[in-house]
Amino acid sequence: MPATIPLTQRVIEIKSPGGPENLVPATRPVPMPKPGEVLIKIAGAGVNRADCLQRMGRYPVPPGASDILGLECSGRIVKTGEGVSAWKEGEEVCALLVGDGYSEYAAAPAEQCLPIPSGVDLVDAGGLPETFATVWSNVFERMRLKSGETFLVQGGSSGIGITAIQLAKAFGAKALATAGSEEKCRSCREYGADLAINYKTEDFLEAGRKFTQGRGVDAVLDMVGGNYIARELALLAREGRLCFVALMRGAKVEVDFTLIQRKHLTVTASTLRPRPVAEKGAIMSALCEKVWPLWREGKLKTATYRRFPLAEAAAAHRLMESSQHIGKIILVP
Ligand SMILES: NC(=O)c1ccc[n+]([C@@H]2O[C@H](COP(=O)([O-])OP(=O)(O)OC[C@H]3O[C@@H](n4cnc5c(N)ncnc54)[C@H](OP(=O)(O)O)[C@@H]3O)[C@@H](O)[C@H]2O)c1
Repeated sequence: MPATIPLTQRVIEIKSPGGPENLVPATRPVPMPKPGEVLIKIAGAGVNRADCLQRMGRYPVPPGASDILGLECSGRIVKTGEGVSAWKEGEEVCALLVGDGYSEYAAAPAEQCLPIPSGVDLVDAGGLPETFATVWSNVFERMRLKSGETFLVQGGSSGIGITAIQLAKAFGAKALATAGSEEKCRSCREYGADLAINYKTEDFLEAGRKFTQGRGVDAVLDMVGGNYIARELALLAREGRLCFVALMRGAKVEVDFTLIQRKHLTVTASTLRPRPVAEKGAIMSALCEKVWPLWREGKLKTATYRRFPLAEAAAAHRLMESSQHIGKIILVP
């Protein structure tokens, strides 16, 4: 029986740029799926660092994107737009969104949806698309991490970090991770890290050199930037790769580019949200083919730290900004 779709829904709006208290419940129309899109009744929606920046007015929303936060969700398809043949009403999916996750219903391009992986709870699946798409495209497509190589992820206890550790291990690399407490380091090891470095008590450059017996690491995924950059270039082995997904400690630094030349290094970076649907669709297809089977093989674990009711989005943002969490924070409508 087709689902009954209401005309309006509860969402979380940004009243004005500022603190978490500016996230307030509101009523908005339920979107209708455009051609090529599906309408999802949301079960879970991941909270991402970029949401906090957008709330503060410090993250430019791509042209045409919704002003409602939320870059990913999971749920049941309740309507398909014209031309959609890959999905049917009633199927459960998780999806990359360009906004609108902090809602009861969101429309997503069909190619940005993936099936719920084997053994994964529907709500937790709402925290998978953003980190898996980011890690796949940066670590495996841009940096081409290979089996047998050594990989370092900064911010190892973040949603991105835990996904990066697990995928690096699943594809046969050695994984090193940094994190800001012993508890976070323990979690990194539980998710598979061969070495977890508490950056508050240890220098990752020295620890990384010691682990690799002076050779250096083959690839680094960074979200910190600032004064990490020079030390990351120093830690990379010959033909090493450094990739940024964020620069939380700053984007303007002085570094010695002769290191890049002498060691044949590659420095790269990317964004996800503003990319065209076709590019995101290609990443999702690669995930479906190469990564989703790993769930069936028991090689991956979800990393939900805490769920909040959608109406408590402000509390979810406070937790994220406290950096006490390990893994993902999920909103449940
Ligand atoms: N470019 C892209 O395509 C893309 C896509 C998704 C996410 N991202 C970015 O990737 C990063 C991780 O995302 P996430 O949602 O997984 O984040 P998250 O769960 O909030 O984790 C970020 C972690 O980074 C660590 N950290 C280190 N330096 C920090 C600093 N100066 N300020 C705040 N935290 C710092 C903190 O842990 P410690 O206690 O260990 O310091 C914090 O828990 C974010 O910056 C996000 O914007 C980029």
